Amino acid sequence: MLSEKIQAAFNRQITAELYASNLYLAMGAFLDALAYRGFGHWLRLQSDEERQHAVRIIEIVVDRGGAVEIQDLEAPGSFESPLAVFEQVVAQEQRVTRMFHELSDLAEEERDHTTLVELEWFLLEQVEEERVSGDILKKIKRVHDSPSGMLELDRELGGRPAQQEPAEAGPEA
Ligand SMILES: [Fe+2]
Ligand SMILES: [Fe+2]
Repeated sequence: MLSEKIQAAFNRQITAELYASNLYLAMGAFLDALAYRGFGHWLRLQSDEERQHAVRIIEIVVDRGGAVEIQDLEAPGSFESPLAVFEQVVAQEQRVTRMFHELSDLAEEERDHTTLVELEWFLLEQVEEERVSGDILKKIKRVHDSPSGMLELDRELGGRPAQQEPAEAGPEA
């Protein structure tokens, strides 16, 4: 059984994952419209992953007899450039990581060992998410003034393969 506090924190986390999913979808549409189809493709797949994270947490809450309450999602807003988009992606991932750390702190306080085990997957996933989005941001910073460099990067991101089923997938290699 989940404590009220843990349940509320899981619900905030579900909302944050869904917000990230919407944000990345909106960012992908913005970059598609600039004909950066590879960036758009990458962000759409990332949006799908965030939704899968939300579903994974929903399943945890339901399995443990809790109540899922999805809160209002803030609108993603508007965007300026690939560079600004990926600065925001990295900031978003860092925010989500902090939320998982706070949730872990809370689970420790509540002596909720099951939640601590559930959170391990997400903590490791966040290491991966910060690394991958951080790498893309570094590459954009290196080439954003060069049209050919940006085209090359767009092609690279366009090659991102669709993800496996989340149940099987640990943090990606
Ligand atoms: Fe996520
Ligand atoms: Fe993420």
